[in-house]
Amino acid sequence: MSPLRIIPTGDGSHSLLNEELQETYHSVHGAIRESAHVFIDHGLKHFVNQFPEKKDVRILEIGFGTGLNVLLTLQQSRTISFTIRMESWEKFPLPPGIIAGLNHGDQLDQAEAWKQIHEAPWGFETNLSSTFSIFKRKGDVVSDTITGVFDVIYYDAFAPSKQPELWSREVLSKVIAQLNPGGVWVSYCARGQVKRDLASIGLKVETLPGPPGKKEMTRAIRAV
Ligand SMILES: C[S@@+](CC[C@H](N)C(=O)[O-])C[C@H]1O[C@@H](n2cnc3c(N)ncnc32)[C@H](O)[C@@H]1O
Repeated sequence: MSPLRIIPTGDGSHSLLNEELQETYHSVHGAIRESAHVFIDHGLKHFVNQFPEKKDVRILEIGFGTGLNVLLTLQQSRTISFTIRMESWEKFPLPPGIIAGLNHGDQLDQAEAWKQIHEAPWGFETNLSSTFSIFKRKGDVVSDTITGVFDVIYYDAFAPSKQPELWSREVLSKVIAQLNPGGVWVSYCARGQVKRDLASIGLKVETLPGPPGKKEMTRAIRAV
């Protein structure tokens, strides 16, 4: 039997509970609210405000999951004047039956875009609009090689208490090696050890107010 169960969250949007791990894919206080706050507002928008002259922004996501962050990023790309190329890694793509039960596309009034994201093949870059492309990469961030350079990294792995291997200094360092100077690493996680590791890798670490239900989150910037 699948360990995955669709659950409602505080803003009406769905998330998933992995019953084996006893871990949710998003905050139970609001999946859309959390993703928009952490990854869009404090990640993508922050980078764009710092580098308004940039024409092309490359985003790396660790943990495609439901595709909610991809949908929010695609939605955001319609309001800005540059091109976004996003690559999202996932070790365990969700079964279509689970995706079909999620309400993110309807909640955001983006049902067509939601469908396109999930129909996009794994392993290829797919243009979803003239200013947004997605490369869904099936792979293991811990053991596989990551190539390419990125301006923004959405670090959306499960919590360090559930998947410590994704938060080791070694793996963080490997992922951050792909970040451009001036680039932004952003996560909902505010654990002290993670912040110390990010600082020891050479990033400037900021602790920011978290989304509803979470006191803090982390943003880290690579020096120009
Ligand atoms: C918190 S969820 C991501 C939520 C997602 N960003 C969204 O918008 O729904 C963490 C994701 O990381 C994936 N994952 C776990 N281990 C991984 C690994 N070693 N490499 C890549 N992805 C992994 C999980 O399967 C899960 O989908």
